[in-house]
Amino acid sequence: MKVQGRHYTTIWVNEDGRSVDIIDQRWLPHEFRIVTLASLEDFATAIRDMWVRGAPLIGVTAAYGMAWQMTADPSDAALDEAWERLHETRPTAINLRWALDAMRGHLKALPEADRAEAAYARAREIAAEDIEINRAIGRNGLALIREAAARKKPGEPVNILTHCNAGWLATVDYGTATAPIYLAAEEGVPVHVYVDETRPRNQGAQLTAWELVGHGVPHTLIVDNAGGHLMQRGNIDMVIVGTDRTTANGDVCNKIGTYLKALAAADNGVPFYVALPSPTIDWTVSDGIREIPIEERAGDEVSLVWGRTADGAVTQVRTSPEGTPAGNPAFDVTPARLVTGLITERGVVAASREGLSGLYPERS
Ligand code: MRU
Repeated sequence: MKVQGRHYTTIWVNEDGRSVDIIDQRWLPHEFRIVTLASLEDFATAIRDMWVRGAPLIGVTAAYGMAWQMTADPSDAALDEAWERLHETRPTAINLRWALDAMRGHLKALPEADRAEAAYARAREIAAEDIEINRAIGRNGLALIREAAARKKPGEPVNILTHCNAGWLATVDYGTATAPIYLAAEEGVPVHVYVDETRPRNQGAQLTAWELVGHGVPHTLIVDNAGGHLMQRGNIDMVIVGTDRTTANGDVCNKIGTYLKALAAADNGVPFYVALPSPTIDWTVSDGIREIPIEERAGDEVSLVWGRTADGAVTQVRTSPEGTPAGNPAFDVTPARLVTGLITERGVVAASREGLSGLYPERS
């Protein structure tokens, strides 16, 4: 997508063919910074400390991290060590394990001398696949937005609520939940996005809002607690969120607070859609609530908030008393029964085992 008229993806390999640049998302929306990753530790830190984030982008970054490691040491032991080091960075998004398994499986079959080149080629393929998947999710979700637009008065926007950032910053390009929105806006279908702030890290306020400003998509920032009220008033036509891991039977794990939006949507008859790239399906898990590991992040993310002061400095301020402990579960699980449909690259299906296995028969 474009930043000040120039096309960017969130991650790319530099001309040296080895080091990797990323958009350092910690500074958005205040500063647009690019950082170079040039050691296994850099890749692990970038994922763990959320310089990059979003399930698909975490996976792609890990794939490049493994490729980097192959230039330093292409042995089986180094491959396993890189897998472990990168895998331990964030526990919930399944794309991380998916990408690491794809890389290791591919590379282990090759002679050591061929591994570095093959690793970059495979990582590039994973990145390119992500873009194609998101384009297809965009087309499939666009049909739903068009249908909603047909039920509105002429010129009235379709109001879409989204949570966290499942935009292009969370992927290599286009985003998952935002891909249909960008396509609708490009096509001239009137859309308006309600952007959940998404405490504690404010991915909605800082990242989704920045994306929508950059692409001229009408939107309104709301606090996380406003969604239920807006749904009761009939102000939301549909919810579209992303996911970090969806089980084989359609339970959806996503950013903390998603479940509350799904409950409010069900109570108010608002369709609740999840944009789901197939690498985000965990075919080994059926009970999302009991089986998906939920990342517990530092309490400081709750007590300290980043922002820009009037003099332009980007800094953190404390919002609660020193000494008040904070809990910070980063994700929750929305049971399949609360999900209207899964927008995948192959089509829109019911959030159920039958729905998913019908679409991906090779996995069932
Ligand atoms: O903690 P984050 O910012 O990595 O969480 C991101 C989300 O929860 C997204 O909604 C999810 O990864 C889907 S991104 C296409």
